[in-house]
Amino acid sequence: MQKIFVTRKIPERGIQLLSEKGFSVSVSPFDRVLSKNEIIEMGKDADALLCLLTDKIDGVVLDGIGKQLKIVANYAVGFDNLDLKALGERGILATNTPGVLTDTVAEHAFSLILAIAHRISESDRFTRAGKYIGWQPLLLLGQDVSRKTLGILGLGRIGSRVAHHAVRGFDMRVLYYDVKRNEEFEKEFGAVFTSTPEELLKKSDFVSVHVPLLPTTRHLINAERLSMMKSTAYIVNTSRGPVIDEVALVDALKRGIIRGAALDVFENEPVLAPGLSELENVILTPHTASATEETRAKMSALAAENIIAFFEGKTPPNIIKTP
Ligand code: DGY
Repeated sequence: MQKIFVTRKIPERGIQLLSEKGFSVSVSPFDRVLSKNEIIEMGKDADALLCLLTDKIDGVVLDGIGKQLKIVANYAVGFDNLDLKALGERGILATNTPGVLTDTVAEHAFSLILAIAHRISESDRFTRAGKYIGWQPLLLLGQDVSRKTLGILGLGRIGSRVAHHAVRGFDMRVLYYDVKRNEEFEKEFGAVFTSTPEELLKKSDFVSVHVPLLPTTRHLINAERLSMMKSTAYIVNTSRGPVIDEVALVDALKRGIIRGAALDVFENEPVLAPGLSELENVILTPHTASATEETRAKMSALAAENIIAFFEGKTPPNIIKTP
């Protein structure tokens, strides 16, 4: 019977699927991020590891768990927490959970676009603080979203879905930048490809970030690129925090280089850059873009299905290519 170690409590569905198949499943008893040593200790001799985006899985962890480890199933679509080279060198398969969270993350990204433009969090704070003393013509004026220009940085599943909502729901004009051009998408949504991120940043009223975290996308949004944006523009990030230089962003927001930012992810989670949480023109959510009951259950099931397929001698549905 193969042993599966799950690094933290996840929705029951995946655990149940694994148990029903007769695997011996153990789940960390701690509802917190484990240290590498703890993963090694608790995961010792496991044949499969079901881990989270907060677990850094490198060669030390893989070797510590042992040679029988065959598959690492990440409970996330992003996989910058996995050392793919170390996995590949050891012939260990890696999988992720794409597709099942697309709608949910796109909904969250679009909620952030609407919320930052309409100053929803700021208005909520204002009202709760007892400052609302009567209707005023100039109170908390925001910006319209309809018919504005949305720049999508990274046209994967989630970026495309955000573009869909923008065009179909709000008659927005969509620009996109990606390493690959997608003419079918352009036709469907009247979207315009920009050959550089700079061109997109200069022309957009809202920028929504959807690139994976890679050496080439770390600090893709830096002080220089922020300074190219319109002073009336907003940036929204639901991908990975280090894509934006957060210190540079705080500075840009303080100095009015851009109008606002809505972030679900942060450069050094869970720590925020100094000054970020004091700003009124930001909305901050705690990496919860995929956090609905339905989607987290599907992610749990999909991570388990990848493991099950592997041990049944089938090709897991979501293999991550390793170098
Ligand atoms: C992912 O799956 O990569 C998301 O960041 C989880 O919310």
